[in-house]
Amino acid sequence: MNDKRIASVIDTDVLIVGSGIAGLMLALRLQSADLKVVLVSKAALSDSNSSWAQGGVAAVTGANPFDSPEAHLIDTIKSGAGLTDVEVAKSIIFDGHRLIAELDRLGVAFEKNPAGKYDLALEGGHKQARVVHNKDTTGKSITEALSEKLWLTAAGNKNLIILENTTAIELRTSNEGCCGATLLNDDSKIEVRATHTVLATGGAGQIFERTTNPLVATADGIALAYRAGAVLSDLEFVQFHPTALRLHNAPSFLITEAARGAGATLLDHKGQRFVKRFHEDGELATRDIVARAIHSVMTENDLEQVYLDMRPIGAEQIKNRFPNILQTCSQYGIDLLTQPIPVAPAAHYMMGGIKATVAGRTSMKGLSAIGECACTGLHGANRLASNSLLEAGVMALNLGDELIASSSAHSTNIISRHQDEQIVLPTDVQNFRAHMYRHAGLVRSQSGLNILLKSPSILVPASKMSAKQYCERNIFQVGLLIAQAALLRTESRGSHLREDYATVNDGKFIRHFEVITPANPTPVTAIDFVS
Ligand code: SIN
Repeated sequence: MNDKRIASVIDTDVLIVGSGIAGLMLALRLQSADLKVVLVSKAALSDSNSSWAQGGVAAVTGANPFDSPEAHLIDTIKSGAGLTDVEVAKSIIFDGHRLIAELDRLGVAFEKNPAGKYDLALEGGHKQARVVHNKDTTGKSITEALSEKLWLTAAGNKNLIILENTTAIELRTSNEGCCGATLLNDDSKIEVRATHTVLATGGAGQIFERTTNPLVATADGIALAYRAGAVLSDLEFVQFHPTALRLHNAPSFLITEAARGAGATLLDHKGQRFVKRFHEDGELATRDIVARAIHSVMTENDLEQVYLDMRPIGAEQIKNRFPNILQTCSQYGIDLLTQPIPVAPAAHYMMGGIKATVAGRTSMKGLSAIGECACTGLHGANRLASNSLLEAGVMALNLGDELIASSSAHSTNIISRHQDEQIVLPTDVQNFRAHMYRHAGLVRSQSGLNILLKSPSILVPASKMSAKQYCERNIFQVGLLIAQAALLRTESRGSHLREDYATVNDGKFIRHFEVITPANPTPVTAIDFVS
């Protein structure tokens, strides 16, 4: 926190909620303008979903003479399984080089070869090596460099307030749209009155019992936007990463797809490779296909895991390129230089979210959404690996340009909420997360999704709610929206697999389901979807 004396009311031009790559880049971008900025982070500034990203940023930089933005576009569209918005994808992909140049300028240490060109990794679904990275901790390199720059900028700067360990619990709305947010810092409420509010809250993996995401990924931005009445889209599409560590005593630690790009293979319980049985691209097929192949093998053989064998990469290359994975696995007794790693799919990335343009504009005036909590249509039904940091960074640059170019007056006439409002919470959040993993995870069915919609809940007075409970509320609310959207899509496409509707139905389902928020929504309210 750069201001120890936090006022209970703060007026600002721009409020940014979230401190992953999107929030940090936007805050830095806005420093070139005379705008007051408040940046809110739920934990420490550098503690975000982005900082856990291993693979890197997919972008065509000129380092690979065989690559082109057109080729990147084709791979993205193919991965999106019929639902990628081509104009959006073009716009974001063709800005990839601009983003990398900006990150470079801001001091991010990407790996380069002796000729000074970016070292590029190959990942699933990419026909060319194009992932700019820093070993297996690219997200950490990016967020640490950006956070450090932002702290330096904030020192003695009255135009930039950074609030750590602070949770946005509700958006403030007026008859003109969004005009800030109510925050909770310890037990104190802070009202931020903002001309422009930006949600950059990242992912939603904590809705599911097994996830590669950190504890902060509780779908906050999507829930805040939903309750304020902004349009959401594509909520049924949740990506499961094929290779998360699967041990009873360990979290679902991500084993980057770049490992398979470097030669790691997937083995069943008999030590046999199997992915080629499901797709000719084998281990380098898109993520939805590889995750489903693993699920099929686990189900056929009643297994809890399969194995990722990194030994084909070679000991020297493993030590040099994947030091974080080597070290983390060894903490759990797995020596990946001599043995395969037990892995299983885990919730990883939310393709759906707050409907937004490539510059983050939402359906609500005064409210923008950038990064994972937004849904631009780039990812369609299944995101191409490492396109997420690309999208988040490009959206931040675009929105920064727009906000600098425009300025508008503060909204008035706040729509007030009851002080003693009753909030709906899951009766047992861990039980709910386990049910989400089971019934709205990699494989879904009408009966399982209907079980989710009957999840038990309790009412708690708003005045008694802690920050943790506000996050549990978001998990519950967005989890149930995912279940409702998944019920509507009676086909299987991309990351969405219905065992009761196992095929793609292009005739009926090349379309997007959008959530229309009812007045005073509760988690158990039937939601209207339009497409
Ligand atoms: C990975 O490194 O496999 C994850 C990167 C991503 O989700 O794009």
